[in-house]
Amino acid sequence: MLNVVILAAGQGTRMKSDLPKVLHPVGARPMLAHVIETARQLNPSRLVVIYGHGGQHVIDTINAPDIVWAEQAEQLGTGHAVAQGLHALSDAGIALVLYGDVPLTRTKTLQQLVEQVDENSLALLTVDLEDPSGYGRILRDDNGSVHCIREEKDASEVEKSVNEVNTGILAVAAKKLHDWLDKLDNNNAQGEYYLTDIIAMAVADGMVINTAQPEVIEEVLGVNSKTQLAYLERYYQFQQAENLMKEGVTIIDPARIDVRGHVNVGRDVTMDVNVIFEGEVTLGDNVRIGAGCVLRDVIIEDDVEILPMCVIENASIGAKSRVGPYSRIRPGTELKGDNHVGNFVEIKNSQIGLGSKVNHLTYIGDTDMGSGVNIGAGTITANYDGANKHRTVIEDNVSTGSNTVMVAPVTVGKGATLGAGTVLRKDAPPSELTLTATQQKTVKGWQKPTTKK
Ligand code: UD1
Ligand code: CA
Repeated sequence: MLNVVILAAGQGTRMKSDLPKVLHPVGARPMLAHVIETARQLNPSRLVVIYGHGGQHVIDTINAPDIVWAEQAEQLGTGHAVAQGLHALSDAGIALVLYGDVPLTRTKTLQQLVEQVDENSLALLTVDLEDPSGYGRILRDDNGSVHCIREEKDASEVEKSVNEVNTGILAVAAKKLHDWLDKLDNNNAQGEYYLTDIIAMAVADGMVINTAQPEVIEEVLGVNSKTQLAYLERYYQFQQAENLMKEGVTIIDPARIDVRGHVNVGRDVTMDVNVIFEGEVTLGDNVRIGAGCVLRDVIIEDDVEILPMCVIENASIGAKSRVGPYSRIRPGTELKGDNHVGNFVEIKNSQIGLGSKVNHLTYIGDTDMGSGVNIGAGTITANYDGANKHRTVIEDNVSTGSNTVMVAPVTVGKGATLGAGTVLRKDAPPSELTLTATQQKTVKGWQKPTTKK
């Protein structure tokens, strides 16, 4: 039986932010949410989070029914923090301590750590650092057995020269924790109740201290500053890029891609530089995403090319379509397939039928468009009367001339053509040419103005 205790009460003064530290995002999700997700993969029977700074805001943001929240009103040290959650732990199991500001630990690493714990042994996750300053040092005896952890501020010069440090992550039989935490004192350089002091107590009780190491240092790096946050963000993004490449995606530069959610990919997908994926994105086979695109909650079917600088949100793009450059596809839009959407085109809450083309400088909103339609440059659906939005219906095989305005609610019948510059206020009948008949006139003898001398 596994209990997980996540320490998340710290303030994060160096973040210089009103947002509680553990809510600062990596990959657009709070650090604490990453830690919780990792913990859940271990199938714990109890999941306890110690909160303090940020209070209710942390609880509301994480909003998870499987968590027991325990408050640590005053941050008196890591040992004191764990003690606040003890009542929620099951004595029968193992307690695994994690930090809410160490977001990228792998489940596999934690599994290996937990496997090293039994009645007679405690397990520490440690790491060798070239520069160990600031961390608690792992002190071993002549046989190489760990006998205690010494905090930097309490360490002698010799102890400070040890490169193996405490990551803070440890696992131990829960029922032992009760006894040891009761015995903690704060007679140390920082006047804090150190969780790390339980190591010496365990040794005194005849227990063996086992250690495990992470695969990479980034797994155990915590965040105390915006610089460290940015470092872990880049590391996280590099991992996302690597995962996509393992699935066969061609990424032109894995340092210039951001995944702030999930991307599901088919075969032979290509991503150019500076693409941002948000939410849930699905890309079919042979999809190409051009430079500088932002895609949020989008489904893109096979053989679609998104040209550079498109922003697409909450939309689906049907097979064999070509979108962009510079297109904005807004929520509720469905391109059925084989569509062309071009430069400076905005489409919102509209269905675009098979093979229809909207190529230049156009706004299509709240529209049901059939198949085989050709929309001329500068076409506008005027869907808003100042109070309500209305729909425009454009049936199959319609052509609109350039600079046409369709004032909704209005229907353009099947096969109709609208003349350039038409302002359509009434339905246009099928198959006919409809246009706004304004007379063209020439002012005879008109003179161009000249500059006054
Ligand atoms: C702690 C360890 C140290 C280790 C280091 C790794 C102790 C005494 N020391 O040091 O050996 O090398 O982590 O980063 O445990 N927290 C609370 N409540 C508190 C105190 C801390 O929730 O009262 C949380 C913090 O928000 C943070 C984590 O616990 O997420 C660690 O606290 P921090 O102050 O960073 O510990 P260190 O003193 O750096
Ligand atoms: Ca720290």
